[in-house]
Amino acid sequence: MIYKHDISRAFGAIAGKDGADKEVFARALEETTKAIAVLRKHRQTDTWPILTVAERTDDLPLIEQTAKRITDHFATLVVIGMGGSSRGGKALGALKENPFVRKTSGTTVHFVDNIDPNTSDQLLTSLDLKSTLFLAISKSGDTAETLTHLLVCIGEVAKQLGPEAVRKHFMAIANPGDNTLRRIATLHGFTVLDHDPDIGGRFAALTIVGLLPAKVAGVDIEAIRSGANNIMQHTFSQAMSEPARGAALHIALMERGKSVAVLMPYCDRLAPFTGWYQQLWAESLGKKGKGSTPLASLGALDQHSMLQLYLNGPRDKFMTLILLAQTGKGAAIPQPPDARLAYLQGHTVGDLMDSEQRATAETLTRSRCPLRLFTLSALNEDAMGALMMHFMLETMITAQLLNVNAFDQPAVEESKRLAREYLMNAKAF
Ligand code: PA5
Repeated sequence: MIYKHDISRAFGAIAGKDGADKEVFARALEETTKAIAVLRKHRQTDTWPILTVAERTDDLPLIEQTAKRITDHFATLVVIGMGGSSRGGKALGALKENPFVRKTSGTTVHFVDNIDPNTSDQLLTSLDLKSTLFLAISKSGDTAETLTHLLVCIGEVAKQLGPEAVRKHFMAIANPGDNTLRRIATLHGFTVLDHDPDIGGRFAALTIVGLLPAKVAGVDIEAIRSGANNIMQHTFSQAMSEPARGAALHIALMERGKSVAVLMPYCDRLAPFTGWYQQLWAESLGKKGKGSTPLASLGALDQHSMLQLYLNGPRDKFMTLILLAQTGKGAAIPQPPDARLAYLQGHTVGDLMDSEQRATAETLTRSRCPLRLFTLSALNEDAMGALMMHFMLETMITAQLLNVNAFDQPAVEESKRLAREYLMNAKAF
């Protein structure tokens, strides 16, 4: 396995009365075989292409050629999209991102999602439009925030570089067929690539939606797919796979009243991944009064903010830590100038991170908080693909166990409808 998935600390034997009941877990695990059978059927008939996407290689040349067209001609790629149209690419791109570098070669990738007018102004006044490509991603082709950003950016490019430049500086990904994004693209003559119509936004990270921005950022997308495929094969070949065990554990802990699922990696490059996970879990399972609340967290940072609550606040948390082998990594810490820092003597930055992640795991265990540990020997493309596939499968299996549809989001439609209505009637509050 690309990662180690240790769930032993989530049970009553270690976590006491807050831990999962072994029998409830066993029953849920038994149920996962039925859930997997449903997934297997959809896999065989290719009715849920998310279950076969990791095996595909036929679509990679188009993604790679498009990425090359972008990197050959543009210093900046601005990805415009909301939720599932943005978070997967952002999570993958973080593998290569260096926040401290102002690049002098290569293409810098920015993600623009929220419709904050301040951010929008900052974007338009900071970019060198001559060297920028805008990629609008929207499965439906109708998302108000995405289309607003797109129209504003088209307006600015047309103003600064001339209307003819729009064709060259914009590209889109949208469902095939008629939708507003495609109409705008046709009007201006820019390229639109197909979103897989049968893969929903938050499950689209391993398609062109996530892989194109990732490839532009320098990520090895074949290795992403290969890591994901490793977990896919494992899940459909093992009697009890790791995603199935994870799903059964969630069910057993929800029954114990653990209504908050915290995901806390000890690695900055996984911070956007927690945002991607948060959406995946929340939007896929929060239905019919069911689900649990995902909480994105980051170690060691949150030891200085959230950990107090995790250890000593309401006993409603199920903690998942992602630990990364960090010993010996990073800069060597210079000879400490003060005896009070003797514990740093002879160590690296990675040694401190490693001690902190182990200390948090141990402290949570001692406080009898249900805990599971993912351990990675390295964070590379294989590992990222594997983690993404684990969490997508765990979500799909949990949805089956909760008897909810993982792929819709009916409750959010009302607020989208109202927002449009308010704008039409120019109401403010
Ligand atoms: O996962 C989802 O379905 C949502 O988060 C969508 O990705 C988000 O609402 C954006 O939708 P669209 O891609 O249609 O613009």
